[in-house]
Amino acid sequence: MPRKPVIAGNWKMYKTSEQAVAFVEALPTNLLHERQVDVVLCVPFTALDRLCQSLSATSIGLGAQNLHEEKEGAFTGEISADMLRAIGCQYVIIGHSERRQYFMENDIRVNLKLKAALDAGLKPIVCVGETLAEREAGQTDEVVRTQTERAFAGVSISRPEAILIAYEPVWAIGTGKTCASEEANRVIGLIRRAIASRYGEDTASQIRILYGGSVKPETISEQMRQPEIDGALVGGASLKPDSFTALVTGARG
Ligand code: PGA
Repeated sequence: MPRKPVIAGNWKMYKTSEQAVAFVEALPTNLLHERQVDVVLCVPFTALDRLCQSLSATSIGLGAQNLHEEKEGAFTGEISADMLRAIGCQYVIIGHSERRQYFMENDIRVNLKLKAALDAGLKPIVCVGETLAEREAGQTDEVVRTQTERAFAGVSISRPEAILIAYEPVWAIGTGKTCASEEANRVIGLIRRAIASRYGEDTASQIRILYGGSVKPETISEQMRQPEIDGALVGGASLKPDSFTALVTGARG
């Protein structure tokens, strides 16, 4: 079975709930009922409730950008997987490099968050990727393999089609520098082999692995032609209805 392409927008800390609703209202009808591509919007917590309503009659999936690993408790300012599920959220980004860099999230937290998301029935988008210094030091493969193995330590996979991984080289995020498609394809192949060595080929062949880092409507078709790249996690170019629509069109092939 070929893997279904995914275009996931990561809005980061952009858009109020009102702006989020206006974005959805500006999308063309065929995008709201897209069948060939899994379309996902990962939005700020404060926009989840309203967007869940605006997206209810559409095929667009709704995601959060973070969660806390505990079910509940005295963790001021945090949001649990069950809370996300209760609000109608289906996906959650885990271990984005901005969380690792600015909020001190390490592989241990990423692993706990992944377990919490799966326990609650959320579809995780697990992010891995090397920094510029690591790439220049020739450590890309080692860093990405280690991040993948640590994220999935002790995790059992029952529904591989519900798990997404995003390879996002940190130096390509928000910089306009995309990683060459062949190189992204190579690293994604390496991630798939790391998954295969733990869970077997069958599982590894069903998990979708996305590329992220300065993806634009102009780059998506070439990226999607790579056999290992199953889609994209997109920041900047996901913020405007027309460029987001163009990304989904480009991913249809
Ligand atoms: P970018 O962000 O598309 O703006 O580079 C990607 C991401 O952070 O997921």
